[in-house]
Amino acid sequence: MGTVVLGTGSCLPERILTNEELETIVDTSAEWIRSRTGIEQRRVSGRDEQTWQLAATAARRALDAAALDAAELDLVVVGTISSHMQMPSTACFVQNEIGAVNAFAYDLNAACSGFLYGLDLADKYVRADASLKVLVVGAEALSGRLNWQDRNTCILFGDGAGAAVFGHSEEDRGIVGCNFKSDGSLWKLLYMHGAESTNPELRLADNSGPFICMEGREVFKYAVRAMEESVRGLLDRCRLTIADIDYVIPHQANIRIINNLVERLGIPQGKVFINVAKYGNTSAASIPIALDEANRQGVIARGDKVLFCTFGGGLTWGASLITW
Ligand code: ACO
Repeated sequence: MGTVVLGTGSCLPERILTNEELETIVDTSAEWIRSRTGIEQRRVSGRDEQTWQLAATAARRALDAAALDAAELDLVVVGTISSHMQMPSTACFVQNEIGAVNAFAYDLNAACSGFLYGLDLADKYVRADASLKVLVVGAEALSGRLNWQDRNTCILFGDGAGAAVFGHSEEDRGIVGCNFKSDGSLWKLLYMHGAESTNPELRLADNSGPFICMEGREVFKYAVRAMEESVRGLLDRCRLTIADIDYVIPHQANIRIINNLVERLGIPQGKVFINVAKYGNTSAASIPIALDEANRQGVIARGDKVLFCTFGGGLTWGASLITW
């Protein structure tokens, strides 16, 4: 028995922004983006596609798949770094929009790791009280937080949302374990300022605006090493080996990060879900969107050991394992 996924859902904005279109916005080339990142296109939010709206649609789809009514939810957690408001949380907007009238709701900021940190939280709640139903969403509209003149960052990210509903099952499956780490000393490798302080005493001299700033090459090196360590640590703790893994759903940041990671781990390419070409890096939404697609395409089967790994601003990173 354990904490299982009762249903998944996702939502992507309508508008597709191709690499070729990006050539007309910033000094880059479609081929450079494709060869360095594996990204072909990304989605960009339009009117009525705020972070909370994408999140609410993904949540409704996850509830439909779980055959649950929103009123049956006890907790709504949204992993995001692109809420359209500082307060209330995106989770409160989602709670209201879907009618989760019996749930309490809050956001979780762990950047790209938001969904997996939320999965861990859901597991802890459900283990404490098997009657609880927890909705975890990863949602971002980072197109509003990019400096579109900065080719180091604006080519990488996309908008979208993914969601999963968690609950208890008496069957011999569910979340096996998680292994997370954070290192705040490395925050400067990947960060985004908030609004400028109205208190001059608290104003930051280096406030570069509310845009994503990144040392791409450093992030790349750190991401691969850190995720490998997390996966190996998790498997050791669970007394499992790489050979026990049936399928991997990694954070979709860059095809080269994914390929490097699975090569170091000795996991065959055929066991890895990849959709970064279609959506770019959707931060906290990347893993739940990939999970929803893998689930709906039937590439993960009941009883499979499914491994997730993530890395993001904070720095935050880690791995989770589910017996599906
Ligand atoms: N178009 C064209 N040329 C570019 C672009 C661009 N968009 N961006 C950089 N370049 C140039 C650079 O100026 C540099 O030129 P130079 O050699 O004349 O100085 C050259 O390309 C190489 O630049 P690098 O930064 O060394 O390129 P690299 O191969 O490292 O690729 C990238 C850059 C794609 C950002 C890579 O480092 C990366 O993916 N890092 C991980 C970042 C990431 O995914 N962050 C997301 C958040 S964390 C996460 O989700 C894992």
